[in-house]
Amino acid sequence: MQEWLTKIENAVDLEELESIRIKLLGKKGLLAAEFAKLKNVAPSEKPKVAKELNELKAKITKLLAEKKEELQQKELKRRLESEKIDVSLYSPAGYKGALHPVQSTLDRIIEYFVSMNFSVETGPLVEDDFHNFEALNLPKHHPARDMQDTFYFNDGMLLRTHTSPVQIRTMMSQQPPIRMISPGPVFRRDFDLTHTPMFHQVEGLLVDSKDRVSFANLKFILGDFLHYMFGDVRIRYRPSFFPFTEPSAEVDISCIFCDGKGCRVCSNTGWLEVLGCGMVDPNVFEAVGYENVSGYAFGLGVERFAMLIHKISDLRTLFEGDLRLLEQFR
Ligand code: PHE
Repeated sequence: MQEWLTKIENAVDLEELESIRIKLLGKKGLLAAEFAKLKNVAPSEKPKVAKELNELKAKITKLLAEKKEELQQKELKRRLESEKIDVSLYSPAGYKGALHPVQSTLDRIIEYFVSMNFSVETGPLVEDDFHNFEALNLPKHHPARDMQDTFYFNDGMLLRTHTSPVQIRTMMSQQPPIRMISPGPVFRRDFDLTHTPMFHQVEGLLVDSKDRVSFANLKFILGDFLHYMFGDVRIRYRPSFFPFTEPSAEVDISCIFCDGKGCRVCSNTGWLEVLGCGMVDPNVFEAVGYENVSGYAFGLGVERFAMLIHKISDLRTLFEGDLRLLEQFR
């Protein structure tokens, strides 16, 4: 038996100790076998032998418990030491995140207009026909509705195709003067090299009393803004059409890849289209109940700006979540 007591004393871990415990005290263990032999012991001897056996059992139980406690303490100490974290340790291999190029471009655009005293307004992504189309001088069956391939819900609601509905909501809840931009996601049924079903717009709107806002004001702010975003570029305005502005224009900058000489990106025109704009159509003011006011509005695609600024050729890569793209913007 002494041999077993030494084994307990020398057990190196809880697993070994447990196997010793089973050997000694288990149902089929050594002590159980000793107790079983009691029935063969002479009746006069029985009390003495039984007493010895019980004392032995108590001794082993106590030893096992003491050893268990000791090994548990040892194990705890080992874990505390191996799992210790030195929070003050400098780690040069640390992984740094970065803003997504669309976010950093959006931030920069917002930064410009906030510095020019424009407020930032937001609105719902799920819109009704009135705010997305009707109030913007796009009555039902107007052919210009086809310009924007719309996602419709069964109940007639839709995913906003531009952030112009936010201008309508803002004008209906505030009185002029208005000086706002509306950044955010918009949705159109489109998917190719330069179109994704979701992209981001920033639209701007400025409204003041009649004759206080002119196309010259619009040209100033957009020119200043485009120079802020793209540096020293030339700017031109081309007559265009939007239902909610009259007159309307599209704005081009000289190609930032070839400096206007003509290349693949600008289709050899030397120009890149970056904005739509115009003077707010009187029908829009009528829809929101404004009288004796004038205003300008403009709209741009954030992804297009990000692609030009960072020279990204496929719009879809912006939404694939591939870390190799994002790592380039750290
Ligand atoms: N809402 C237009 C679009 O999404 C952009 C725009 C806004 C054009 C304001 C002119 C004036 O295409």
